Amino acid sequence: MAADHNNDHRVGFRPVRDEVDETLSIEGDFPQWLSGTLLRNGPGTWHAGRQPLNHWFDGFAMLRRFRIDGGDGEVAYRNRFLDSGAYTYAREHGELGYREFATDPPTGPLGRLGRLRRLRSPNFTDNACVDVCRVGDRYLATTESPLVTEIDPRSLESGRRFEFGGFADTYTVHPHYDFDRGELVGYGTSFGGSESGYTLYSIPDGTEDVSVIGEVESDPPGYVHSFALTPNYIVLAEPPFVPSRRRLLTGSSVIDGYEWQPERGSRFHVVDRESGDVLARHRVAPFFCFHHINAFEREREGGGDSDDGVGGQGEIVLDLAAFEDASVTEALSLRRLVSAEPSPPAAELRRYCLPAPGSSRRGVESETLYPGHVELPAIDYANRNTHDYRYAYGVSNRERPPESFQNQLVKVDVRERDAVTWDESYAYPGEPVFVPAPDRGDDADGRNEDDGVILSVTLDAGAERSFLLVLDAATFQERARAWCPHPIPFGFHGQFYADGEERPTRSMA
Ligand SMILES: [Fe+2]
Repeated sequence: MAADHNNDHRVGFRPVRDEVDETLSIEGDFPQWLSGTLLRNGPGTWHAGRQPLNHWFDGFAMLRRFRIDGGDGEVAYRNRFLDSGAYTYAREHGELGYREFATDPPTGPLGRLGRLRRLRSPNFTDNACVDVCRVGDRYLATTESPLVTEIDPRSLESGRRFEFGGFADTYTVHPHYDFDRGELVGYGTSFGGSESGYTLYSIPDGTEDVSVIGEVESDPPGYVHSFALTPNYIVLAEPPFVPSRRRLLTGSSVIDGYEWQPERGSRFHVVDRESGDVLARHRVAPFFCFHHINAFEREREGGGDSDDGVGGQGEIVLDLAAFEDASVTEALSLRRLVSAEPSPPAAELRRYCLPAPGSSRRGVESETLYPGHVELPAIDYANRNTHDYRYAYGVSNRERPPESFQNQLVKVDVRERDAVTWDESYAYPGEPVFVPAPDRGDDADGRNEDDGVILSVTLDAGAERSFLLVLDAATFQERARAWCPHPIPFGFHGQFYADGEERPTRSMA
């Protein structure tokens, strides 16, 4: 393949053939306090035997594990393909057996008839390639289909299927963990008829019991990839990217069945976490979003004297990575990405301010906090999620608009509207994960909020190897890197599990 001879982002779309388990060579010094496991997920190959897959999101899941022992200055790396039914079928039959995000199995003459039913009763894939999640004592590889798989966080061996919920057709891969209440909060989406919409759920610490918080009706529901959580509210930002009956008949995959209907606008559904009631719906100009960054409640300056952030002039502040439209889903197809200049659309860091329920304020305001590009965002999740905050991190691009695949990391000061970046020739960084330094004396003004490190699995396309990059989050300067034996294909999400953490916390939604 011609792409194999290019020392650019295309190295990150090569399949991995080897599963390794080794100690990495290190440059620089890992912080002594940094001890834990970074578990990440993403594709390992985009081939089902002879059949090439169409999209970045279609690849077969390969788990990556970085065991970091800062005290001993050691980092061990291991990778392993998820032993899914979809992957097994592809190896045994040389073609796809289950529907992925943008690739369907080869179909016979009756194939199109099946498409009518497929959003309700599809042969969903169990190729859980998007993220990892801890529920109780179990670690799961997750995807938006209900078929998630338990994994061993040490060996990365696949375990049994884990039935998630059972009350919806798809589930978010970005549940929130509420550190104050000690519970996981998420939602599932149902397609069709009277049940069409979103079901909100929570899983309290110490259980695997999924309890339903409430329902949000929407017909048809939009493609909602993540959501916003505040102490009192759940907010779903629903883009006008919806399943279309017409396109389901003519399309060829899940995502081809969706249609951008800008006249519908984007909607915010505001739900009370206690009662599960939908308290408000707001309609704004259309935008598309994969990832929320943070959300919180506050009393607007000059507003009333409520001390719980609501009532009077209270508002819900909601930050997200906003695209103009849903064309990014097509732009992340392999046909586009495996070209010299893929030029994907940019997302900006945008803030929406919604009137809090009961507030005398009216209307939704928005502003650009950072013009972009910013994606795969992260914050000091453990200390700032659902609270006012100062720093957001993400992958970004040196050029504006982007001409290449993500080629820098950015740190945005959302209060000062300022940004600093990290980049290096031939380097293509993955999602940044923030790990707070211990005992840092947290401070509400955000002075210590960036006391910690950023971990990012970064491809060096020149060296044709990936490395685990450690940035000092305060200075955004490199502190260390640990070299992997091979280039790791571009992945999506992961979680850092600090040693000694007993709760099933997350380092990001
Ligand atoms: Fe995501």
